[in-house]
Amino acid sequence: MAPTPRIGVVTVSDRASSGEYTDRGGPAIAAYLKEVLNCPFQTVPRVIPDDRAGIADTLTELADTEGCCLVVTTGGTGPAVRDVTPEATEEVCEKMMPGFGELMRQISLKVVPTAILSRQTAGIRGSTLIVNLPGQPKAIAECLDAVFPAIPYCVDLIGGPFLTTNEERLVAFRPKKK
Ligand code: MTE
Repeated sequence: MAPTPRIGVVTVSDRASSGEYTDRGGPAIAAYLKEVLNCPFQTVPRVIPDDRAGIADTLTELADTEGCCLVVTTGGTGPAVRDVTPEATEEVCEKMMPGFGELMRQISLKVVPTAILSRQTAGIRGSTLIVNLPGQPKAIAECLDAVFPAIPYCVDLIGGPFLTTNEERLVAFRPKKK
């Protein structure tokens, strides 16, 4: 039997990781995945500080050791000194997927003018797709609704498991085979 698909959920926040406040982003991503996916899957959660080397290590561990087909991060995408999630993502990826950030910003700009402040991106490490989201919990569904239709096919293309969605909630786009 094929192993259960694993999805990394990474909250990047100095304050959530130190316990100064409760992490709401990670649980919001997990809830989103539960709502949208109708195949079995397992989340692998992490809550870590805004430290570039630490973020890169966590992304590498989730991809290479934990075998996640998808890793979704939240936080650290803005312009502040400690915001380094996109740099860490780029450091560990062999290929960048700029369309993800472009589309998420475009959609988010319809909701909030400060969407332009997010440098969120996405990339591929081996058989893992890594997608950055902003830290605002409400940004999670706003952004994922825009890009999730393309995620299952992207995971197919990099040799990951066949992810299926609850089509009443979100239809995954897979081009028809010629
Ligand atoms: N995108 C959406 N969809 N909704 C939001 O509320 N907040 C913006 C932006 N993108 C936001 C958004 C703000 S205020 C900032 S500063 C940037 O994301 C970066 O946020 P981060 O540093 O927490 O990742």
